[in-house]
Amino acid sequence: MNKKIAAQRLPAEMRFAAELDALAQADSGLRPAGWRLSPRAARTFILGSGAAQAGGMRITRKIHGNDALVERAIVTLAGQRGLMLAGEPGTAKSLLSELLAAAISGNTTISVQGGAGVVEEQIRYGWNYALLLRDGPGNASLVPGPLHRAMQLGLLLRFEEITRCATEVQDCLVPVLSERLLQIPELKEEQPYLLAQPGFNVIATANLRDRGVNEMSAALKRRFNFETMQPLDSIATQITLIGDEVRRELAAADIGVAVPPDVLTLLASAFHELRAGAVEGIAIERPGTVLSTAQAISVVCDAASQCWYFGETTLRPAHVARYLLGTVIQDDQEDRRRFSEYLRIVAKKRNLRPDWMDFVAGAREE
Ligand SMILES: Nc1ncnc2c1ncn2[C@@H]1O[C@H](COP(=O)(O)OP(=O)(O)OP(=O)(O)O)[C@@H](O)[C@H]1O
Ligand SMILES: [Mg+2]
Repeated sequence: MNKKIAAQRLPAEMRFAAELDALAQADSGLRPAGWRLSPRAARTFILGSGAAQAGGMRITRKIHGNDALVERAIVTLAGQRGLMLAGEPGTAKSLLSELLAAAISGNTTISVQGGAGVVEEQIRYGWNYALLLRDGPGNASLVPGPLHRAMQLGLLLRFEEITRCATEVQDCLVPVLSERLLQIPELKEEQPYLLAQPGFNVIATANLRDRGVNEMSAALKRRFNFETMQPLDSIATQITLIGDEVRRELAAADIGVAVPPDVLTLLASAFHELRAGAVEGIAIERPGTVLSTAQAISVVCDAASQCWYFGETTLRPAHVARYLLGTVIQDDQEDRRRFSEYLRIVAKKRNLRPDWMDFVAGAREE
């Protein structure tokens, strides 16, 4: 029986535990040392099983587009170099890193979140100072950080937003990735190093918009295979993805608002036109914000949530328009003007389309 665990969001290995079990049972593929699933089964976990079933269960597709990239990412992780997932915000870099760790290691929680305040000790290891003072340095007083644990247990380390860490801090990975060995010089009496167990590797993510916050050293770059996640180019795929994710999120929050497919199509088109800087063949200035698929999902979820808590049963274009405003216009007031210009053209060209007029009216209410 499935025990329901209370949490706002479960890690992927728990969220998809049934799929991972089914895949493991049906898995007859070759498996690199230390891996929970074969590369073939890991690929099915991420890209779905289509009509075919694994162990009597259909595996859902979790990453859309980027199929060849997913395959290469899996192969990279079986080799001697780390995997770097780069790309624009909201292109599912973090999601793919989580899914890879769930499939390969069965554990996504060994992770570092990059940031200006991260120091090496938080990544490698630190010390329990009470024990250190009493007994001196030793394995008992050592507090393993995520890198130490991943190496010792033969698991994947997820390093989110690596370029937000100072270059010197990132560089602590250089010797680890080449020699697969972590020096612990303080352990003079005991073995002063840790050898990585099979299964260990690093998946890093980096946001292209943050490039230049902290550069990566050439030495570290050479130890990673870079893959750039591409935003979804087909509107049809975006609509499917937004619909699937919204249904899943609303069901998880017990929100029973109907989301008509036409509203999703309209929102995806508005995102596409704003991103492309063109509507009805007329060029417009693009807003400075990213407008990712992830943002489209949260616009619909927020609008549906508003309907639910404030007494409406069906989502209309005007509802999503109100939340779209907060996504497009963040801290750049110029975006307000750019968005108004977009609305002006839409209002003029689509004045016979009630759905679009409802959208314009919703956006102008503010
Ligand atoms: N190609 C895609 N396949 C599946 N889901 C996607 C895709 N693109 C975007 N998404 C959706 O976007 C959500 C957010 O993605 P995620 O947080 O992983 O992006 P990210 O690239 O790490 O962004 P950031 O740079 O802001 O950290 C995912 O949970 C998923 O719902
Ligand atoms: Mg991310």
